[in-house]
Amino acid sequence: MTEHWHPASWRERPARQMPVYPDKRALEQVERTLASYPPLVFAGECRALEQKLAEVSAGRAFLLQGGDCAEAFADFSADKIRDTLRVLLQMAVVLTFGAGMPIVKVGRMAGQFAKPRSSPTEVSGEVELPSYRGDIVNGLEFEPQARTPDPARQIRAYTQAAATLNLLRAFTEGGYASLTRVHQWTLGFLDRSPQGERYRDLADRITEALEFMQACGVTALSTPEIERTTFYTSHECLLLGFEEALTRIDSTSGLWYDTSAHMLWIGDRTRQPDGAHVEFCRGIANPLGIKAGPSMTADELLRLLDILNPGNTPGRITVIARMGADRVETHLPPLVRAVRREGRNVVWSCDPMHGNTVKTSNGYKTRPFDRILGEVRSFFAVHRAEGTHAGGIHIEMTGQDVTECTGGAQAITEARLSDRYHTHCDPRLNAQQSLELAFLMAEALKEERAALRAAS
Ligand code: PEP
Ligand code: CO
Repeated sequence: MTEHWHPASWRERPARQMPVYPDKRALEQVERTLASYPPLVFAGECRALEQKLAEVSAGRAFLLQGGDCAEAFADFSADKIRDTLRVLLQMAVVLTFGAGMPIVKVGRMAGQFAKPRSSPTEVSGEVELPSYRGDIVNGLEFEPQARTPDPARQIRAYTQAAATLNLLRAFTEGGYASLTRVHQWTLGFLDRSPQGERYRDLADRITEALEFMQACGVTALSTPEIERTTFYTSHECLLLGFEEALTRIDSTSGLWYDTSAHMLWIGDRTRQPDGAHVEFCRGIANPLGIKAGPSMTADELLRLLDILNPGNTPGRITVIARMGADRVETHLPPLVRAVRREGRNVVWSCDPMHGNTVKTSNGYKTRPFDRILGEVRSFFAVHRAEGTHAGGIHIEMTGQDVTECTGGAQAITEARLSDRYHTHCDPRLNAQQSLELAFLMAEALKEERAALRAAS
């Protein structure tokens, strides 16, 4: 490992999952243009997020991270952004109530455009074309021109990220996220569902509590947290040329920050210790996620922690386990034990989506909701058994009433997946399934708290 790092030092390392651009000059031109554009987030915000994640790693807060698998240019609208945000706000309220602790809210939003693929090409009949790698790289249509990586798409992704972030900031700081509006966040199609009813009951209790507090003199004026919330953004740190172009030195700390998002994560396919993605991430001061699939060993994880967090700073690293429902109980404990034995500070988060993808007989990629809940339950059970904090959840979800994951209270069947299957990439939880998951986790967190109280 060379000590010297600079924003382009990843270019000397083997880089997996990178698109091949036919026009290198056009790519360089775009990267220069992006490097001249304003940052999307500020270093101070990234540091604030790191502090909040440090609270999570100490067992005093919980991380809620969610959004699209892949954001799409064609799905860019204020309504979609608002709908995803309000499901996350509803989940956060449910979790706050159950966990009795602050919820750190991070969107897979405003920049989640680049996708790793299991194969570099896709074959259909006689035709072989480059795989779709997300709208920031190429188009989804199976057609030569669309599938050719086009650097100009990076400018469009930047612009869409900037506008999305602007709206998220307006919603979360401008009154929409006010706790006095918990009732209004309910989406129309949730009204008559069991989850909708459960949520309404909870919203009634919150409204009552707020009225009581107001009578005691605790108002939005004295406590601004009632009126607004802080919402952070994140995406997979995959398209390194784009990330490098947005990496800037912070004049306050003298540290480098990737200003494309508050938090970046390294995917399960690009976490090689000597690879380009790890090299890039070790030099940026943003909070980082590391996806840990079933092939992650304890030694590998410790090695990554050495490289990415040599100072063992709490809040810097979130390990996002995505083992699959039937593997968590065997694969997670060795990682948890090694990290605890070595005294490393990490946030443990659970991605119950990526280890539970199946193909149906009618050709849809789906995720059975039961297996998603199963992975979450096992994740909590492992941490309870190890005496560590189940610190967070990482999900692919949307505020739209899609039919992409089977099961849940609506009992979506394989045959009904085609009704509203809209994702550009992986199947997402819809609003009802997301809320059902939040209620389940609220219960699990309550139990964790009770167990801790009993032990102390
Ligand atoms: C993702 O989060 O969309 C993803 C591709 O995950 P993983 O790297 O865990 O497969
Ligand atoms: Co995905």
